[in-house]
Amino acid sequence: MKTTFNELNLPVPTRVIYGRNLIDELRTFFPATVRKVTIVIGKGSVRRSGLLDRILTPLQKHGLETTVFEGVEENPSWATCLRGRDHLLRQGAELIIALGGGSVLDAAKAMALAATNTGSLAGMIERRDYLQKPLPTMAIPTTAGTGSEVTQYCIITDEATHDKLNLHTPHSFPWTAILDPVCTLSMPRTITIGTGMDALSHAVEGYLSRRASSESDRLALESIEMIGKFLEANIREPHNLKLRENMLLAASKAGAVISQTGTILLHALGYRLTLDHGVHHGLANAVLLYPFLRVTQRYQPQKVQGILDALLGTHSTLEDLKGYLMRLGIKPDIGRYGVKAGEFEAIARYVLAKNNLPDTPFSVTTRDIFEILSVAMN
Ligand SMILES: [Fe+2]
Repeated sequence: MKTTFNELNLPVPTRVIYGRNLIDELRTFFPATVRKVTIVIGKGSVRRSGLLDRILTPLQKHGLETTVFEGVEENPSWATCLRGRDHLLRQGAELIIALGGGSVLDAAKAMALAATNTGSLAGMIERRDYLQKPLPTMAIPTTAGTGSEVTQYCIITDEATHDKLNLHTPHSFPWTAILDPVCTLSMPRTITIGTGMDALSHAVEGYLSRRASSESDRLALESIEMIGKFLEANIREPHNLKLRENMLLAASKAGAVISQTGTILLHALGYRLTLDHGVHHGLANAVLLYPFLRVTQRYQPQKVQGILDALLGTHSTLEDLKGYLMRLGIKPDIGRYGVKAGEFEAIARYVLAKNNLPDTPFSVTTRDIFEILSVAMN
């Protein structure tokens, strides 16, 4: 059977291939010399849904030696990455296939780096420009949001400091990304929304970042517009493959944006909700999006208007954004996740020290952070 596929040209080194049922013919997309492949997965949902077998069976028919590293948790730890590294080295893996959400993709990219370099997580982050090239990774997202399939970032939780750290090098982009909407079909509604909001926050933050360029702005607006057009429709029609495919494309575009611009204040704030209260990463950004843009509007009114127009149509307002988020079931109410006003001080201290802050398009003050969190309490 002849494989039909499309390529998405993004300003990243990753080759991005998209189309339906590509996972049945992955062998087409890597060199004949590759004989040993490790598939990295999360806690078993891709096994239960049958996706893992769909990938494994044809590879095994081609005579490839395959193993599976299973058990990457949400917000993956460095300890998990080291276990994965040991697995890769034992097998002598020549290629990693990462099949899962952003956590699995991030962890697999970090394992690929750990397999060719030595040292602690902090040590590797410090030496990032001098690290050896990682093992090649083929990233197959099962959610449409994190964009990890086209970024160099590996967001890993450091157990010692209870913080999310960003390990990346100029070489840590996945070698290939496969966007197959069949892989996102089994995503439950809440994850479709949460990861869609993660993609939206990437595009929004990238568009606002001090590191934005005309190229990243164009991609960011395209992504925001696609999310406005397809996410709600996708919630109504979860089995529509065209909508699933469009959300995957929107998420990868947003990923390519942050590969150039990084994320800013919104992500730094969201991290604390995730680390301290277990709020899903995309949802954490979404509940803070309205108050964040309300504060940002004072400094960057045109850019905020550009975001609202792309997402919701010309002349849309922040109140329209609030309504949009409510339709998706997102209330700007961090109190319901257990956040107390007494934590604001500690959150502000953390956020002001975070390295994604300097790219925020205004000098963030403790007062700005208190304002965002207070509005988000209502
Ligand atoms: Fe994110």
